[in-house]
Amino acid sequence: MDRTEPADGDAQPWWRSAVFYQVYPRSFADSDGDGVGDLGGIREKLGYLELLGVDALWICPVMRSPMADGGYDVADPRDIDPLFGGMAAMDALIAEAHERRIKITMDLVPNHTSDQHPWFVAARTAAPGSGERARYIFRDGRGPDGSEPPNNWPSIFGGPAWTRVTEPDGTPGQWYLHIFAPEQPDLNWENPEVVADFEQTLRFWLDRGIDGFRIDVAHGMAKPPGLPDMANVSTKMLVHDDDDPRFNNPGVHEIHRRFRKVLDEYPHAVSIGEVWVDDNVRFGEYVRPDELHLAFNFRLAETAFNAESVRTAIDHSLAAVAPVGATPTWTLSNHDIEREVTRYGGGVDGVERAKAMMMVELALPGSVFLYNGSELGLPNVDDLPEDVLQDPVWERSGHTERGRDGCRVPLPWEGDTPPFGFTAAAQSWLPEPAEWARLTVEAQLEELGSTVSLYRMAIEMRGTRPEFAGERIEWYGSPKGCLAFRRPGGLVCVLNATAAPIPLPPGELLLASATLKNGQLPPDAAAWLV
Ligand code: GLC
Repeated sequence: MDRTEPADGDAQPWWRSAVFYQVYPRSFADSDGDGVGDLGGIREKLGYLELLGVDALWICPVMRSPMADGGYDVADPRDIDPLFGGMAAMDALIAEAHERRIKITMDLVPNHTSDQHPWFVAARTAAPGSGERARYIFRDGRGPDGSEPPNNWPSIFGGPAWTRVTEPDGTPGQWYLHIFAPEQPDLNWENPEVVADFEQTLRFWLDRGIDGFRIDVAHGMAKPPGLPDMANVSTKMLVHDDDDPRFNNPGVHEIHRRFRKVLDEYPHAVSIGEVWVDDNVRFGEYVRPDELHLAFNFRLAETAFNAESVRTAIDHSLAAVAPVGATPTWTLSNHDIEREVTRYGGGVDGVERAKAMMMVELALPGSVFLYNGSELGLPNVDDLPEDVLQDPVWERSGHTERGRDGCRVPLPWEGDTPPFGFTAAAQSWLPEPAEWARLTVEAQLEELGSTVSLYRMAIEMRGTRPEFAGERIEWYGSPKGCLAFRRPGGLVCVLNATAAPIPLPPGELLLASATLKNGQLPPDAAAWLV
């Protein structure tokens, strides 16, 4: 059965209940032996992804980039970087993925460009007040000689969010805003040229057959008038606060409405926003009918393995989208977040809890985003040697925060020793731990009780069983430390987050993340019943 195409005009769009698989391309599979993953590598593994059963891929940025932030610093948004195989590799991937009925969504970065983007190269040497500078956010500094940044905003990666340029005549000049690294200057979204260029980028990829986009920093782009100082300057990096003047300014919604008009010309396509906004009402505003189709709700990813907190996170995620009629989304991890196995305590317990939480999220109505490697139960790698760390956070924090490399270590595919078939090179760009020999795709596919086998079974059931129908959930009474809910189609999902086994409610057992003992659900486990 093809469940990705609507059977008739009334059917739901494909993305309303899809399982997306996020590929961090540098770390997925390397086809050309340079130690860095690429699009050819993804193409070679499409058979695996088909076996896993995912509906769509979200591929992190592969456009031309000097890679100051792993590709989130884009120098040409309408070309593929040679590191990833160039445009031919993208065309080939789209074609073959579509033959296998897997959709391809790309990651686009509207908030900023690379400092190597021709626009920024021109802006640096152009005069203050010029059209070139007006595509970015250049300001004079504060203080008598302009030597203080224009406001007190910090960069998300540490240090000030402003860098001073030297004017062509050699004198110290204006400052430009970069909410992320200095190599990622923020665009000025009040400039119509910026809007028009992004619309051109959307059309460019949609015309090449792309099925939609993940929109990076979708709560960014719009800036508050006058760029006022921040009230509370946090020195902690990568933290999110709804009152942060750098994000979630009201003007952002007009920008999303513009994007949506373009997307509506391509009715098959989906937009998914990265929206770090906690407040349910303000979050819901991003997925009104004329804005984004979907937005990542990060509540589950931010929640400990605790049934009460998980239930609260689910309730909030549903409540945020219900008033605007949008689809809920679920994710446990991504390339910016510590892997869930580690968050839930690591070791065997961490893996068991991560499997249980995967069954909880796949039991929920809406679309689910799985991060590559989670299906293998990979932990974070927190002991990478310092000299291999590449996340700008490491340098920008003066070597006090290691950053996100630990969740970006390449996947182990086969064999007994690193690089585990990831690359033909002697080493992968980040080294894999030797103990991942047990966790390779090859080893796990042969094992019925492996993490990957559980993922395969769960994804298949979710996509084919009628019990997963219905948009709502109904909570069941359950022992303290547990949760249980029911879908209108009849599926019951139970999570046991306690340290003792629990009896299951009546019904036929469809799947469990751990073997039942005396008919009871063990600790750190989830079960589906019908
Ligand atoms: C998003 C991305 C992150 C990147 C940042 C700047 O948060 O997920 O990886 O560093 O945007 O583009």
